[in-house]
Amino acid sequence: MKKDQASRLREIKEKVGRRLNIVDDIQKSHARILAITSGKGGVGKTNFALNLAISLSVFKKRVLLIDGDLNLANLDVLMGISPVHTIKDFITGDKRLSEVIIKGPQGIYLLPSPSGIFDFIGIENSVKNRLIKEFAALEEEYDMILIDTAAGIAEYVVDFVANANEMIVLVSPEPTSIMDAYALIKISTAKGNDVKVNIIANQIKSVKEGRDAINKLKYAADKFLDIKINILGAVFFDKNVINAVRRQNPFVLEYPRSIASICVRNIAKRIILDYNSKEVSLKKISFFDRIFNSHMKTVT
Ligand SMILES: Nc1ncnc2c1ncn2[C@@H]1O[C@H](COP(=O)(O)OP(=O)(O)O)[C@@H](O)[C@H]1O
Ligand SMILES: [Mg+2]
Repeated sequence: MKKDQASRLREIKEKVGRRLNIVDDIQKSHARILAITSGKGGVGKTNFALNLAISLSVFKKRVLLIDGDLNLANLDVLMGISPVHTIKDFITGDKRLSEVIIKGPQGIYLLPSPSGIFDFIGIENSVKNRLIKEFAALEEEYDMILIDTAAGIAEYVVDFVANANEMIVLVSPEPTSIMDAYALIKISTAKGNDVKVNIIANQIKSVKEGRDAINKLKYAADKFLDIKINILGAVFFDKNVINAVRRQNPFVLEYPRSIASICVRNIAKRIILDYNSKEVSLKKISFFDRIFNSHMKTVT
């Protein structure tokens, strides 16, 4: 739909909404789903995802953080909490998603996962339907849903990334990290879902190091994939990150004035600016509907 048509339609809906006193419902937007990912492990996704979620919630956004690393789920450890239930209790048991989600620090929410891969794609149809339905409700409830993924190109990881609204790819300055990030971007965007690609350099020791890493990736994506990459910023290597992990308290809370905290807060600001400038999308297929549908397409 053209932009002027979309805004005209919104005006009409708002007018009707005001008359019926349901304007708040109409303006309620779907959550923006951001998948935090990297080609290589140990780049800093989990720490970044957690501290970004907290920094975003400062802007009064309702933020849900999903532990999407089904191999090594550890967001709960970084927050110093022990969840009673995980998404596995939803899939194999009778828990609702809302019963599995727990409150984290600073008003963020966490959907915990168990450690050790469980069969996510092969779940029964009845569970798939429950997941689609209950997750769609979460998309209404939250402004932003952040998924901390596992590194690499496992099928379920690419599913999360390719079906998100945006991916945030973390790279460290090592050449292997940049090459693996390139492969991940290539595979995830090949599905043609229009996922926005953002990159962040993490654990950089100088501005030049960060710029070089980002430029290499941007150059390769421009030239070989014809993909535009949005540079979200960089996070310096900071010993306070390691100390905060030991203390099981997010670094933006434990060391708010540290350089890593300042960098993450700047990135959060940039994301919020972008979020606020986007049009409200009124109709979208639920995230898991998109994922399961894409599998049906590849089967037939
Ligand atoms: N900006 C940073 N400065 C210093 N150490 C970092 C930084 N980001 C991450 N780390 C460290 O890197 C290690 C891996 O981080 P983690 O978030 O678990 O990575 P991933 O989820 O990508 O595997 C942790 O020990 C963490 O303390
Ligand atoms: Mg991790």
